[in-house]
Amino acid sequence: MANTATIEINGEKHEFPLIEGTEKEVAIDITNLRTATKGVITIDPGYKNTGSCESGVTFLDGEQGILRYRGYSIEELAEKADFLEVAYLLIFGELPTKEQNDKFHEDIKAEAVVDEDVKKIVESFPKSAHPMGVIASLTSALTAFNPSSVNVDSEEDMYRAIVKILGKFPVLVAWTLRKKQGLPLDYGDDSLGYVENILKMMFKKPNKEYTQNKVLVNALDKLLILHADHEQNCSTSTVRIVGSSHAGLFASLSAGISALWGPLHGGANQAVLEMLEAIKNDGGDTKKYMAKAKDKNDPFRLMGFGHRVYKNFDPRARIIKKAADEVLGDLGVQDPILDIAKGLEKEALEDAYFVDRKLYPNVDFYSGIIYRAMGIPTDMFTVMFALGRLPGWIAQWREMRLRKEPIGRPRQIYIGATERKFVPVDER
Ligand code: SDX
Repeated sequence: MANTATIEINGEKHEFPLIEGTEKEVAIDITNLRTATKGVITIDPGYKNTGSCESGVTFLDGEQGILRYRGYSIEELAEKADFLEVAYLLIFGELPTKEQNDKFHEDIKAEAVVDEDVKKIVESFPKSAHPMGVIASLTSALTAFNPSSVNVDSEEDMYRAIVKILGKFPVLVAWTLRKKQGLPLDYGDDSLGYVENILKMMFKKPNKEYTQNKVLVNALDKLLILHADHEQNCSTSTVRIVGSSHAGLFASLSAGISALWGPLHGGANQAVLEMLEAIKNDGGDTKKYMAKAKDKNDPFRLMGFGHRVYKNFDPRARIIKKAADEVLGDLGVQDPILDIAKGLEKEALEDAYFVDRKLYPNVDFYSGIIYRAMGIPTDMFTVMFALGRLPGWIAQWREMRLRKEPIGRPRQIYIGATERKFVPVDER
């Protein structure tokens, strides 16, 4: 393969180097494009064809439906690892030894206490507040309670900030849920595992002991692993670009949470359940909703379907669909919503509109069914997505800062008014 690309503009040829990654992906390095062509740039709305960085954290192949974290397949990690091991792998690049894993867990537990004054912020929100708005605010507020911005060149400083947010974020997630439910804010129990403690903080009733359910612990651990990273998606790109101005880690994560909130991104898991509920309440008429999804004049989209990168089954959706069957079976839950979801999936996979556009179920299509079976309210689903994605955001932010990436500042093509003179108001 040639190692350069040639672009000809107005008869003038310009050569640009090709770079190739470890998985044989190729990019045209246009770092010098504007200078070499005296001002010509590229434009690519939604960055569908544009790489923002070189990264060693996650590899995915949308055509093959492959997803690997630091080289390990998502299938293996979901089956054999636990969430904190995967968090360590994503952030530090290697699976932890037993000693590193135990220390990581202990250091996170040591940070799993949140300043009591944060409760005043939680209590100031109305019960009607959307949990994503609450958790984004609380994450940003952590900066106020932990003002020393992290020195990324200090491994120790970076490690401290990482265990701090991994310790405190689950507490904030649980407090966000309990505030909505009018329950006292619970601190959990550091004798428990990371995921067990999350479930206890979320669901323990003030007047009785909380009994762990291994099915729920395993299901949540797997869901968090499956959501942990996904290369340069919308929210991760947000975390990177905010961090590229050297804003702090917590502020960057708060921005990422806001980006994840959108229904086209992480908010889709909530939108999927609302869509399935609407179909159920409408007599289960999936064909009507399929027609709406295909109607160009109807803004309705089949939520949980399609993906910017996967033009095959999202490998996470396969694992989550199997887990949904297992969890509902183990819990003895008969959820008509699951049957509607399976019917919708079958119809879409046989429909030319979806097949031609390579629209398959994505990570959000089945996850909400498990969250619902676990007793998590629908408007908390995207908060659970953020809980899973946290280590991926941290890993990508840390990589961007350690590689000393430049501040993100895209160019544009101006299409507004050309120069004109000011007209005083009484002459307009
Ligand atoms: C996540 O990027 C990531 O990695 C994200 C994520 C992660 O882990 O971080 O994987 C998590 O965000 C998953 C996606 C969750 N979103 C949804 O489920 C919302 C529904 N899906 C879509 O809105 C859409 O598929 C996107 C936003 C996910 C992707 O949109 P693209 O890549 O910009 O594709 P597009 O909008 O250009 O659509 C191409 C065609 C269009 O039709 P034509 O103009 O060619 O006729 O496909 C159609 C679209 O109308 N289409 C859909 C559709 N998705 C795309 N039609 C009906 N229903 C849909 N869901």
